[in-house]
Amino acid sequence: MFYFPLDTLCEASHNVAKTTSVRNMAYSLGELGKRVLAVDFDPQSNLTASFSEENKILKTTIADVMTKAMDEEALPNRGEYIYTHGKINFMPSSIHLSVVEANLRMEMGSEKLLSNILEPLREEYDFILIDTNPSLGPLTINALSAADSVIIPINPEFYATMGLTDLTKTILKIRKRINPGIQFEGILMTMCDMQTNLHKEVCLEVTEAYGNGMKIFKVQIPRSIRVGEANRYGMSVVDFDKKSKAGLAYDEVAKELIAYGN
Ligand SMILES: Nc1ncnc2c1ncn2[C@@H]1O[C@H](COP(=O)(O)OP(=O)(O)OP(=O)(O)O)[C@@H](O)[C@H]1O
Ligand SMILES: [Mg+2]
Repeated sequence: MFYFPLDTLCEASHNVAKTTSVRNMAYSLGELGKRVLAVDFDPQSNLTASFSEENKILKTTIADVMTKAMDEEALPNRGEYIYTHGKINFMPSSIHLSVVEANLRMEMGSEKLLSNILEPLREEYDFILIDTNPSLGPLTINALSAADSVIIPINPEFYATMGLTDLTKTILKIRKRINPGIQFEGILMTMCDMQTNLHKEVCLEVTEAYGNGMKIFKVQIPRSIRVGEANRYGMSVVDFDKKSKAGLAYDEVAKELIAYGN
């Protein structure tokens, strides 16, 4: 099962908590006994940083594997690019992935390269979560071509209906042209402060606009200072603070994902 968090591709589309969501959903799914692979597919490598010890050099990354795939060369052994952190496996990224992105633009028929890399791993995992960069470039197209379904995080602070409409159209195009099986897993409201009228209004607006056609995760992720603190120490929020409301919310998201998957 592949999940792929994507934001709404509008002007202020970054910082909607894609990386934080992958990090914490992966942790919670792992704690619930699921076999999880988290794939960092963003050259910024924030997810990788959250998994690896400071200054530790990860020899082989997804950038190397993608380069081999693009050159039609044999892929490295899995053990070289799949790493372990606690109960989770992860595939790291590096800044070199931006070079891969530039090369992908000139490569014909390259949309399925990531899909081909991940396909043989399907049997080994219950969940493969792909973290992406915020633009709709060749990397994102590759992630969408590999994904079974898409989770759309929305930060109420930056919400714009136009962005979500464009995103929906893009996914429908991907479904028609490249990946007929792709589904919308659901909308996840992140960084919510339900004390504010703006956030309440946005949640209501999203439910009214999309609630009929698309699943909206029951739980909303509250804004919490603990998230930033946990990120800083390379930990999941729950691991950092067992009582953190944001961490517990991600536990609930993981349970919803498992329930939907059955
Ligand atoms: N629930 C939360 N409460 C408070 N801060 C949060 C929460 N979730 C994420 N953040 C903070 O918001 C910032 C952006 O989060 P994150 O890096 O996960 O977003 P992103 O969508 O991956 O961004 P990018 O588009 O740059 O990849 C980070 O500093 C993170 O610590
Ligand atoms: Mg990110």
